[in-house]
Amino acid sequence: AGVPEFSVQMPVPKVLQPFKGDPDIDFYRVAIKQANSEILPGVQTPVLTYNGDFVGPTIRARTGRPVSVTFTNQLAEHANVHLHGGHVAPSSDGHPMDTIAPNGYRTYSYPNRQQGATLWYHAHSHHTEAEHVYRGQHGFYIIDDPAEAHLRLPSGKYDVPIMLRDALFDEAGKLDFLSPPPFRNIDLANGRPQPYFPVAARKYRFRFLNSATERNYILNLGGVDMIQIASDGGLLPVPVPRKEFRLSSGERIEVVIDFSKFPVGTKLVLGDVQRPVLRFDVTSKAFDDSRVPDTLRALPGLATPTFERTVDMATVFNGEIPDGVINGKIFDPNRVDFTIKRGTTEIWNIINGDSAQGWAHNFHMHLIQFRVLSRAGRPPEPDDRGRKDTIMMPANEPVRIQATFDGDFTGRYVYHCHFLEHSSIGMMAQMEITP
Ligand code: C2O
Ligand code: CU
Repeated sequence: AGVPEFSVQMPVPKVLQPFKGDPDIDFYRVAIKQANSEILPGVQTPVLTYNGDFVGPTIRARTGRPVSVTFTNQLAEHANVHLHGGHVAPSSDGHPMDTIAPNGYRTYSYPNRQQGATLWYHAHSHHTEAEHVYRGQHGFYIIDDPAEAHLRLPSGKYDVPIMLRDALFDEAGKLDFLSPPPFRNIDLANGRPQPYFPVAARKYRFRFLNSATERNYILNLGGVDMIQIASDGGLLPVPVPRKEFRLSSGERIEVVIDFSKFPVGTKLVLGDVQRPVLRFDVTSKAFDDSRVPDTLRALPGLATPTFERTVDMATVFNGEIPDGVINGKIFDPNRVDFTIKRGTTEIWNIINGDSAQGWAHNFHMHLIQFRVLSRAGRPPEPDDRGRKDTIMMPANEPVRIQATFDGDFTGRYVYHCHFLEHSSIGMMAQMEITP
């Protein structure tokens, strides 16, 4: 099905209200359920959702204030939920083998003892993660940080999360998951195809997330500067003007776009080589007392690493269906691949073992934010700067990262290719943080 570009307006996902707010914790309920959603204009598409919304409701948390979310599983199959970028206990991490049975429920505790950042929650049950996310189990989880309020970045309705992903629809308007990802010919922004978004002639903070299961975006605004202020795990030390940014599956970037220099009536298209994904239409003027200060938030110094490891992501063919492997091994939940002492700092060399074939991967680690030391031997470009939990892994770009496994949590967490079609065939491994 084809849709004319910029024929529908981009919605902003609704913000979920807690059903109970204690003095020191917010309680939410979310149903994992089937629903029909209008994605293409005038067409009802069956989807798997959080609370019936194809882009799940946004949870707005606050640094220092815990959140408890009870997910009820109303599907006829197992499900689970991972808070991507969250610093949480193993029992609340949505480990791929730790699922909620049909008609069951599970309460996850999110302590929010981390700085402000754009996180997201999504399905993660092993083997079905790609299909479940593709069919709609994805939503924003934004941590606002009181320590950042003095920066006076654009806020309120000028702080807009935008979830980008691709999709392929069949003639009946159903999502086609079985055709390979390159066939997905429509991009969705907050769940609508190539929409427009009316803006006022002032500054906006946009929180971009790539929730596509297997797509890289390399986005530009037709040569207009976007000011990058944050990456996966929160603010950068200083803002960085960008004409273009890269976003692989699971990554986030926050940019401020200043529309004040454009007359009402201007239309600016955000897109990549494949196609336009979103158009900003300047439709009004507005007062603006927000700013982008010269310095944002310092990063902590790097601790001294005591251990170095290699993580080699690849595909092996033992028959018709390929296996995904990390360091030669397919995911086995009963095997611990790396044992890491809590509080230590390590260097990991992430390698794309399919470079000879030119295939792309990416890399995501649960539990913590890491820092990129180098990519293909060069210092990190802005896409890799700041606190990262997910990075692009195209062919022939080995990445060195440094991670400090600090914090309160011990236990088992996974790291994997965040092209979820790849993790679902085994391109995932397990680390155990020990006391
Ligand atoms: Cu966004 Cu292990 O996942
Ligand atoms: Cu991969």
